Amino acid sequence: MEPTPIRHVLAFALAVAACTQDADRSPATRQAAPAATPAPTVSSSSAPAVAASAVAPILAHGPVDPGGGVNPRLLRRFQPLAPVPANDADPVAQAKSDLGRQLFHEPRLSKSGRLSCNSCHNLRTYGVDNAPTSTGHANQLGSRNSPTVYNAGGAFAQFWDGRAPNVEEQAKGPILNGAEMGMPSAAAVVAVLKAIPGYVEGFKRAFPDDGDPVTYDNLGRAIGAFERKLVTPGRWDKFLEGDKQALTSAEVEGLKTFLNVGCMVCHTGRYLGASMFERLGVVEPWPNQKDKGRLEVTKADGDRMMFKVPTLRNVEKTAPYFHDGSAATLDVAVQMMARHQLGLELTPAEVSSIVTWLDALTGDLPVELIAKPELPR
Ligand code: HEC
Ligand code: HEC
Repeated sequence: MEPTPIRHVLAFALAVAACTQDADRSPATRQAAPAATPAPTVSSSSAPAVAASAVAPILAHGPVDPGGGVNPRLLRRFQPLAPVPANDADPVAQAKSDLGRQLFHEPRLSKSGRLSCNSCHNLRTYGVDNAPTSTGHANQLGSRNSPTVYNAGGAFAQFWDGRAPNVEEQAKGPILNGAEMGMPSAAAVVAVLKAIPGYVEGFKRAFPDDGDPVTYDNLGRAIGAFERKLVTPGRWDKFLEGDKQALTSAEVEGLKTFLNVGCMVCHTGRYLGASMFERLGVVEPWPNQKDKGRLEVTKADGDRMMFKVPTLRNVEKTAPYFHDGSAATLDVAVQMMARHQLGLELTPAEVSSIVTWLDALTGDLPVELIAKPELPR
């Protein structure tokens, strides 16, 4: 199921035009990279409107090893998950993530006393609520799809529009968001926690050097410490570490299709995403233009429809897809990506091949961290 050579060239030409390619660049550089610009004429019958020199270095190596293996140069763009350090030897680090785990499940951090982080990021269902958009305080329907908290700790920015730099800062958002957990102020949250002796103890253990450890910033730090443990290594990581039997031949074929059509230009690195912003609708405008993405954060016109490229780890489990929840299945999501981001109409066989590989990106949940812990009194 090799795409035809012309589509090959087109996909790569576009990919080069569309995105920054250097996998070694720091997130800060990526963030500053200019918006992706589509080649003006894109269809599978026209020549790529991109300087040949931009394409040559990639084609010189050939996107796929003719022997049937995956080109090692392209494979090097992906990295396995880093192991999470065990905290056993560091009681303070352990106390911090234990506290974060309690706070993650704590409904008293919501105005109604009913919603916790876990309501929308259910750890048993791969860190999502499987709804197109989430329902928050007083049954208000939010406008965005809840992304998974698994592997979020490693993302270069948080939220679909990247408005928080890391999970520690991110965690302070939803509690005070009127459409999410609805608490009136950080001071009100701190007052709730200070009235629960078990939490006062927990914050003391987690932040032993602080004179007044129960603070809103420390709440963010504790939840962040817990989230950084929510990683899901799986067969894909074994494959990258050299165990070529870890994927079936159909999954390897799917990976090759993914590489051939150019998806990896944006979905790259350790998380197959979560390393850059890109315009949604690079080639063909996205059907839903209501949410303008990063434009709403930076007010810069160049950020119109710029969204964080999400991770593809566990994507099989996190339907529906996109910031607006507009794709109910992976088949539809892949077809839309090809059309809007690459200007390609994939055959049903290509779509199903890619989806077969995406399914292999499902990792193992850290079972010991999932259950709701006993909450302090
Ligand atoms: C009412 C549902 C809801 C609740 C409750 C909620 N979230 Fe979220 N969360 C969302 C939605 C929706 C988004 C995406 C919002 C956006 O991008 O603007 C999100 C985004 C995130 C992200 C960013 C992930 C990424 O890949 O960008 C993290 C991390 C996260 N939430 C953690 C938490 C934590 C921690 C809590 C509890 C303090 C929490 N959430 C409470 C719905 C919720
Ligand atoms: C030019 C960059 C770019 C290219 C190329 C690209 N994507 Fe994406 N992808 C994105 C962005 C940006 C989003 C987030 C869209 C949003 O905000 O709704 C995304 C979202 C997705 C999602 C939804 C994930 C989720 O959790 O909701 C899937 C699945 C996906 N891409 C797969 C692919 C596949 C397969 C290809 C190749 C056919 C591809 N992408 C090509 C940038 C890209």
